Amino acid sequence: MKILGIETSCDETAVAIVDVANTATGKHTLISQEIYSQYKEHFDYGGVVPEIASRAHAERLSTLIRKALNKATYTKDNIDGIAVTVGPGLTGGLLMGLMFAKTLSMAWNKPMIGVNHIEGHVLSPLLEEKIEFPYLVLLVSGGHCQFIKVEDIGVYEMLGGTRDDAAGECFDKAARLLNLGHPGGPALEKAAKQGDPLAFKLPKPKVDGLDFSFSGLKTAIAQKIKQQQDITKTDIANMAASIQHTIAVHLADKTEEALKQTGLKTVIVAGGVAANQTIRKALQATADQNDAHFIAPSLSLCTDNAAMIALAGGLRLPHIEHNQYLVTGVRPRWPLEEMEELSK
Ligand code: KG4
Ligand code: ZN
Repeated sequence: MKILGIETSCDETAVAIVDVANTATGKHTLISQEIYSQYKEHFDYGGVVPEIASRAHAERLSTLIRKALNKATYTKDNIDGIAVTVGPGLTGGLLMGLMFAKTLSMAWNKPMIGVNHIEGHVLSPLLEEKIEFPYLVLLVSGGHCQFIKVEDIGVYEMLGGTRDDAAGECFDKAARLLNLGHPGGPALEKAAKQGDPLAFKLPKPKVDGLDFSFSGLKTAIAQKIKQQQDITKTDIANMAASIQHTIAVHLADKTEEALKQTGLKTVIVAGGVAANQTIRKALQATADQNDAHFIAPSLSLCTDNAAMIALAGGLRLPHIEHNQYLVTGVRPRWPLEEMEELSK
């Protein structure tokens, strides 16, 4: 089934066409994709401004959809269904995506399905590799930092999550304090390349079980930066490297605990922070030490994208009533636990 996916939950306006197989472990093919990253629009504000994001989605979506169809040399007749993110995310942006999807669904007379963005992230590695269930996902993004046991499509168990901030927020805040700009993760990773990860001693987050915590680390980073007078380029690089190292160790330690606790033998990292090479290396080492298979999807599948939305939607579409989702609104908060298991 050829699915047009639309993703507008945050600051990426993304469209993709995916040929989705009829089972999760079948071979799915990404046919074309277009992403507009609203990096410039939000740069001066040091974070995503919801109103600006919604407008930018509205301005770009039709062009991106046309481009994705042209690249695939498809017309509407080649499309079997439309999948759109309806949550969780920023209400205004989600509404823009949903309105486009509903309009196309009605004009083209194609079924439409509303997709959970987090389900998109946890299923995204299936676009590149055949992975058998169950597997462990470490979802690390700007809004999420959690372990999910994926037993099947729609059968998810939350094993632990952040008690306060997400790892991506910690990267973004630290980058802002170091004047590295927005989005913070990639900027901090770049600055860290020249730095010594052991130059600054930062407190390792202490939290029980499979939970995470980043607020203490965020405060410690702010204090360290304040204490530093006449901060040099070397200080910035060292600080960036030390922050990245501390976050990577926290994520790797918890992943080790999760593997031990669950006995799972496949661990997948997903979400924007999964683009970070230091974090990937730390997780790879942890998986190796625990005799587990580590999978890190391509960078373009880690950050927000529409291919994962097309996949998640395409796997569910045959199981829903025709256009049941045309009556759907957006769900800015939509916990993964509330997803329905696929009827077999
Ligand atoms: O998954 P994502 O694109 O959006 C959601 O939050 O859903 O994740 C964005 C987050 C941002 O906080 C960004 O700074 C972080 O992922 N990020 C990174 C890197 N690339 C993106 N963090 C660390 N290193 C990176 N290379
Ligand atoms: Zn995301």
